[in-house]
Amino acid sequence: MSAAAFTGPSVTDIDAAKVRGAGSNVHFDKVVVAYGAHVVLHPLTLDIAPGEILAMIGPSGSGKTTALRAVAGFVRPASGRIRIGATDVTDLPPYERGLGMVVQNYALFPHMRVEDNVAFGLRAQGADKALIGERVKDALATVGMATFARRYPRELSGGQQQRVAIARALAVRPRVLLLDEPLSALDAQIRRNMVEEIARLHRSLPGLTILYVTHDQTEALTLADKIAIMRDGRVCSHGPTTELYRRPPNRFTAEFLGRANLLPVTVAEAAGPKGFATARHGDAVLTGAGRGEKVGDKSLLCIRPQHLSLTADSEHTNRIVGTLREVHWQGELTHLVLDVDGTPVRVSATKLPMALPEPGTEVPLFFAPADTSLLPEDAGV
Ligand SMILES: Nc1ncnc2c1ncn2[C@@H]1O[C@H](COP(=O)(O)OP(=O)(O)OP(=O)(O)O)[C@@H](O)[C@H]1O
Ligand SMILES: [Mg+2]
Repeated sequence: MSAAAFTGPSVTDIDAAKVRGAGSNVHFDKVVVAYGAHVVLHPLTLDIAPGEILAMIGPSGSGKTTALRAVAGFVRPASGRIRIGATDVTDLPPYERGLGMVVQNYALFPHMRVEDNVAFGLRAQGADKALIGERVKDALATVGMATFARRYPRELSGGQQQRVAIARALAVRPRVLLLDEPLSALDAQIRRNMVEEIARLHRSLPGLTILYVTHDQTEALTLADKIAIMRDGRVCSHGPTTELYRRPPNRFTAEFLGRANLLPVTVAEAAGPKGFATARHGDAVLTGAGRGEKVGDKSLLCIRPQHLSLTADSEHTNRIVGTLREVHWQGELTHLVLDVDGTPVRVSATKLPMALPEPGTEVPLFFAPADTSLLPEDAGV
């Protein structure tokens, strides 16, 4: 990572006040990025509110890093504008944008102690010694690394190094923090801890806007206020995290964000005032949240594996029948695969009946209307 990646505006108090006053929302306004003739971001319009964590997720090559680099100032849009707060930053160099950035291979300077790594951006800005000392202490304390200031990166674990990289990005007091797969080099256990730490960090710095690029949906679901799902250089869906998960607007979102069973149905009754529609799958009449479907529309009923139960509780008023194909025990969860009229349906159960049915038997499955939603049948976005 170059020095420019984590240098913000100059850090006198006056300038800091100016930056805070300028706001920390990020606005992509019809941003197009092309490498040669290859357009990799189609007009991208997206808002990140001040203090929000937006997770940008999507398959490899979908344009996530490119979008982040456009905010950072490392790629220039062919057209469109990028604003941070009230400032149009499209023509500003990276170091004038008031950003902190952390990338996958945290790239600490190996020959510098932790404290010097964290001080680097401030020194590049010519901040005075007392201010640097104070900021380095603060930034290291924020990421729980205060006692490691004198160590060299090689004396730290991967997770600790990444915390230092985050401290380095924070030391310049950025208004926006850009994180590009910051945890992907770490193993699963450390990654889970780091996700919790980033959540804590954000609670302690509530005004900080975070653009978090990942292709790990668990990180996105855990951390983000909102999620933007990218597909082929376009935003395929964007919304509050829980809403996008609970009511995915299209098939790609349903399948990319968590696991989804998508049962083909025909709408029998459009959504009433409470937002629930009914739909038929064979003989079964099923109820789920609608999104403006009309009677007779072909649609898909989205049911998450953990919302299907082999036992009917009072709220489980929907019932389908499938033939049990596979059972995979995984300790905390048991995964079942059933065939429901040719559609494979997955169930993730924490509780199972004492006697599990044999593969080949017909099994009823129950689920609640509130856990179920309809989405358009088309294969595209
Ligand atoms: N410097 C470059 N020159 C030419 N093409 C590039 C360059 N950087 C990225 N691309 C192309 O732009 C597209 C988007 O790449 P980008 O790095 O934004 O994807 P991504 O969503 O971050 O993927 P990943 O999850 O693998 O990191 C890809 O098709 C990629 O090959
Ligand atoms: Mg990337």
